[in-house]
Amino acid sequence: MKAVICYYSGSGNTKLISEFIKNEIQELEFDLHDIKKDGIPDFENYCLAGFATFTDFLGAPQLMYSFFEEIAKQNNKYAFVLNTYGFISGVTLKTLSKLAQARGFTVISGYSLHTPENYPPMRKKGKDFDHAPLAKEIAKLTLFIELLRKQASTIKSGNSPETHPVKIGFLNSILPRMSRKQSKKDFGIQTVDESKCITCGICKSVCPYGAIELSPKPVFTHDNCFGCWACYNHCPTKAIHTPKFKGEFQYAKPAAELKAKFS
Ligand SMILES: Cc1cc2nc3c(=O)[nH]c(=O)nc-3n(C[C@H](O)[C@H](O)[C@H](O)COP(=O)(O)O)c2cc1C
Repeated sequence: MKAVICYYSGSGNTKLISEFIKNEIQELEFDLHDIKKDGIPDFENYCLAGFATFTDFLGAPQLMYSFFEEIAKQNNKYAFVLNTYGFISGVTLKTLSKLAQARGFTVISGYSLHTPENYPPMRKKGKDFDHAPLAKEIAKLTLFIELLRKQASTIKSGNSPETHPVKIGFLNSILPRMSRKQSKKDFGIQTVDESKCITCGICKSVCPYGAIELSPKPVFTHDNCFGCWACYNHCPTKAIHTPKFKGEFQYAKPAAELKAKFS
């Protein structure tokens, strides 16, 4: 039996960490499953599932809610949860755990990892955290991987692994997830600088919410937009603008330091 990590990653931090975990845990063979591109995997093929994503306004991205809604009810399949975050993780991990449990998974462990910030307004404030995770944080991740190794090995041998309840700190637990209205307001209405747009279609392909059509330049359906900044962060010519940002402080892929630590 194999394991699978289902990830949704806006800028690649979560994907990189998911790949790292896959490579570190040899007790089970892991598949990586990109939720945005590949939809729902067939969980029948797996004895352990990981669910990984990033903190999006103190909670899990909207895409994760729709992903879990579509999963058929499981019969206590083992799962672990993981999230990356730039500043404060909020209720992301707890939410992933609850969403998985609601679909019938038994959540056996979870971890939140501090990584560089991909939210342009925070990067503008100098809070890019491009050195994250620090040695102390990597040491904690190593312990988590060690635990997962033991759990994977127990599952492989047909026994029940020890369950470690998902815990978040007090501060994280009292911060409410930001509403969609607020996140959209923060983002504002995006526009295209037509003199810069090369109609490459990357914005449409990275938008998780179907808010962009090409005609041939991008046309936005603002009702579908969740203000996730994916189109902004990935535009190769900085042609997508918001009222306050004209292409600066993009974060399209893992910072070099993060890549060096986890490749
Ligand atoms: C729209 C948006 C909202 C975010 N909100 C938070 C947040 O509330 N707290 C936090 O710590 N990081 C927040 N971040 C930062 C990301 O969680 C962090 O950089 C993460 O590692 C990105 O992962 P990815 O590269 O897999 O997309 C936010 C990023 C974006 C784009």
